[in-house]
Amino acid sequence: MDMAQRETWTSRVGFIFAAVGSAVGLGNIWSFPFQTASNGGAAFLVVYLLAVFLIGFPTMLIEFVIGRRSKQNAVSAFSELGYGNWTFAGVIGVFASFITLSFYSVVGGWVLNYIVGSVTGGYLGDASTFFGSVSSGTVAVAAHAVFMAITIAIVAGGVADGIERATKFMIPAILVLLAGLAVWGSTLSGASAGYAYYLSPDFGVIATNFTSIVPSAMGQAFFTLSLGFGVMVAYASYLGRDDSLPGDSAIIVVLNTIVALLAGFAVFPILAATDALTGSTGAGTAFVALAGAFGQLPAGRIIGFVFFVVLLFAALSSSISLLEAPASYVVDSYDTERWKVAVGVGVVAFLLGIVPAYGYVGLFNDFVFNILLPIAVLFIALFAGWIYGGEAVDELGRGTSLGRGAMTAWLWWVRVVVPIVVAYTLWLGVTNFYAGLVNGAYF
Ligand code: PHE
Repeated sequence: MDMAQRETWTSRVGFIFAAVGSAVGLGNIWSFPFQTASNGGAAFLVVYLLAVFLIGFPTMLIEFVIGRRSKQNAVSAFSELGYGNWTFAGVIGVFASFITLSFYSVVGGWVLNYIVGSVTGGYLGDASTFFGSVSSGTVAVAAHAVFMAITIAIVAGGVADGIERATKFMIPAILVLLAGLAVWGSTLSGASAGYAYYLSPDFGVIATNFTSIVPSAMGQAFFTLSLGFGVMVAYASYLGRDDSLPGDSAIIVVLNTIVALLAGFAVFPILAATDALTGSTGAGTAFVALAGAFGQLPAGRIIGFVFFVVLLFAALSSSISLLEAPASYVVDSYDTERWKVAVGVGVVAFLLGIVPAYGYVGLFNDFVFNILLPIAVLFIALFAGWIYGGEAVDELGRGTSLGRGAMTAWLWWVRVVVPIVVAYTLWLGVTNFYAGLVNGAYF
């Protein structure tokens, strides 16, 4: 554990890019529009935005405070701060990263296959047959291996040379391409029906579906902001100097939200134009519905290619952070070279990912969304609020012009509101997940 050798980001912007790269991923472009579509459109959007800003934003500050103060990965951070018996909270997060990496890479493999499919025209005729042929079995495992290999290569390159450099290129590319897709979508006939479903909330839908919308929106908020994984702890641990954590978080949360909203503006007109607006639920239907739409639209093949390339960039800039969280633990704790750790952890995650690659992506996904993330966030909020308390406020205060009052408000919010809302979410999430297990949604 040689502190002198610990890497740091080259600049504040480098850190922000890397964190945005982690946040912006399959969650924004794939999961967000489809969760919104299947949970009542704008009604879901409202609850999701509340979850992001009222619960996600303060939680990001917790992870940043722990990471920057301890200069350690999420597992070692707690003992470094003097609270070794809270280590389990970090372990849950790193475990969540590891599980997520295993299935995230499988979905990354689907994306690779869809890029190939855009070139060959493979999905243009019959999208659901194409999905069936690439989403599970040996083809899926092979693509999963390729995706994981790329992830390993970037992480092996290190924090500044690998992660920072890769994300500085990918984030602007994602924004430009998505904006282009959204503009293209606006020219489709039927676009206005898509916007209406996306943007005018029916509050009756929230009331009737409250117990399913809340856990989905909260899980989506944590997932998309990379919270509850120990990832933001690890990334903040590479901060060399004290800039404003609230300022950085605000930029990250807003940019991440812009990408998700833009993805919605690209996807909803496409779905509306092909009458696929509602009923698109589940991991696979998203790929089927979109690819089916690309097959029916003018220039759909080129648009499809652009869309899946964007999705690949987004997925990679996230998967590297998923590998970084467990890898930073091993690098901090044992005197091992970074590239060996990246390969070792990546290969084990690949092996675990063979299970979702045989048809269990939904199971892994829902286990993380409904159970692991709320548990992890609940514990770090209780820790930051009630145990670390004053010192957390102290660390938050470094480098920010935020007044004492605002920081005290944050502390009480983290003490009371966040745990209550997250505990309620966890209860609903466990109930829904259990119901899914029993009624055969996964097997
Ligand atoms: N935030 C990423 C997404 O939206 C997922 C992710 C979670 C990535 C945690 C890294 C860590 O796709």
